[in-house]
Amino acid sequence: MSEETQEQEKSDKLPKKEEEKVETKSDATNEKAEASKTEAKDEKKAEAEDEKKADKPEPKKADAKVEEKKADAKFEEKSDDAPAKKKTKKTHESAVKINKVTKRFGDKLAVDELTLNIRAGWIYGLIGPNGAGKTTTFSMLAGYLQPTYGEVEILGFAADKVDELRGRLGVLPQDALLPPLDKVGEFLIHLARLQDIPATKAIGAARDVLRDVGGLDWWDLRCSTLSHGMAKRVALAQALLGEPEVVLLDEPTAGLDPRVAYEVRQLVKSLKGKCTIIISSHNLQELEEVCDAAAILDHGKLVASGTIGELTAASEEVHVKIGRAAKPAAGGPMRTSPGVPMDSIRAIPGVTRIEYDEDTRDLGIFFDRKVTDAEGVIGHALWALLNAQVRISSVTKGRGLEARVMDLTDE
Ligand SMILES: Nc1ncnc2c1ncn2[C@@H]1O[C@H](COP(=O)(O)OP(=O)(O)OP(=O)(O)O)[C@@H](O)[C@H]1O
Ligand SMILES: [Mg+2]
Repeated sequence: MSEETQEQEKSDKLPKKEEEKVETKSDATNEKAEASKTEAKDEKKAEAEDEKKADKPEPKKADAKVEEKKADAKFEEKSDDAPAKKKTKKTHESAVKINKVTKRFGDKLAVDELTLNIRAGWIYGLIGPNGAGKTTTFSMLAGYLQPTYGEVEILGFAADKVDELRGRLGVLPQDALLPPLDKVGEFLIHLARLQDIPATKAIGAARDVLRDVGGLDWWDLRCSTLSHGMAKRVALAQALLGEPEVVLLDEPTAGLDPRVAYEVRQLVKSLKGKCTIIISSHNLQELEEVCDAAAILDHGKLVASGTIGELTAASEEVHVKIGRAAKPAAGGPMRTSPGVPMDSIRAIPGVTRIEYDEDTRDLGIFFDRKVTDAEGVIGHALWALLNAQVRISSVTKGRGLEARVMDLTDE
C-alpha cells in the first residue's frame, strides 16, 4: 500500500488528528479552566475589542462562540504551563480559498490547478462524476492531505493549522468510520472534549447535534450496531458538533432513505447563512435545491463555477415540457397532438431563439435578460401554448443543474 493510500484511509477514521494531543488533557484541567473562564473572558473581551477596531464585525453568534473557546483554550494552556499560543481571529469575506491546488497520487492527477473562492455563509456544491476529484479536494480542505502544490486556506489559515482551526471546521468524510466499540453518546462527548468544549457543556452539545440528525434514541447504542444510514447520521452529527464556522460534507445523503435524505437537506438548509458549508452529492436536484453556488469538476479540473442561477442560466432561458395528446374517450376518434406555435413564441418580446426537441418534447426559449425576465417569458409562452391548445407538462426557469452537468462532463 502506498504512503498516500494509507494517508487517505487514515483520514476516514473518526476522531482524527487531534486525538493524540487532547487525550493527554485531564478532566481536572478542563474543570479548572471552566472555573477560571470568567476571568479569561474579561481579558479576551478587551482583546476582542481591539480586534474589532481593526477588522469588520462578524456575526455575533460566531464571535461569542469563538471568544468562549479562546478563553477556554487560553486557560488550559496556562494551567498546563504550556507556552501561551494566541489564536488570531480574522474576518474574511471568503471563508475558503483554494488557489491553483493540484494533487497527484503518483502518476494520477486527481486535482488539477483548482482555484475557488467560497464566500462566508454560503452553501457551496462540489459536483462531478465519480473520480472527478471531489473527495481529494475535501481531504485537502480538511487538512488530511497536503496539496502537491497550491494553497488551501480556511478562515484565513492554512488547512493544516490544526490548533487555529480546532472547533471552527467540521468534517463529514465520504466513508467516515466510527469507533465500533464506542457508544454513540460517549463518542460525541469525546469529540466535543477534543474541541475544547468544557465538560459541563459537552453532553448538551452532543445531545443537540444527535437530536438535529434525528438520532437521540441511539445515545446508548454501540457504533458497530448502527445501520449504514444511522452511522452516516452520527458522522454528520459529529461534523456539526460545536457549531463550526466551516462544514465540509462529502456526500451526506448517500445511502439514506428518501425521508431521511429529505430531513438532512432541511437540516443543511437551516444552516444557510449561519456557517459556510461545502457539500458534494450525486443528487443534482438536491444540490440545486440547497446550494447558493457550486463548482463542477471533471477529471480534476474546474469546468464551471458560479451561483446556481448562473450555472443553470435561470435568467436566460426557460424550458417547457410539452405534454402528449390526450387519450381519446372510449370509442372516440384518435386525437392528434397540435403543433407548437413556434412563430407566436418567437415573437415574444426579448426572445432571441427557440429550440424544440421532438424526442424529449422540450421547448427551450432563450431570451435577452436586458429586455425581459423568466417570469415574463413564461407568462407569454403559456398564453401562446394554451391558445394553441398545446398540453403542458412542466415549466422550469433555466435548464436544470443536471442538464448543465451532463453537457459539461465527459461520460
Ligand atoms: N489515495 C489515493 N491513491 C491513488 N489514487 C487516488 C487516491 N485517492 C483518490 N485517487 C484517485 O484520484 C481521482 C479522484 O478521486 P476522488 O476520490 O477525489 O473522486 P471523487 O470525485 O470523490 O469521486 P466519487 O464521486 O466516486 O466519490 C480518482 O481517479 C482516484 O482513483
Ligand atoms: Mg468522493
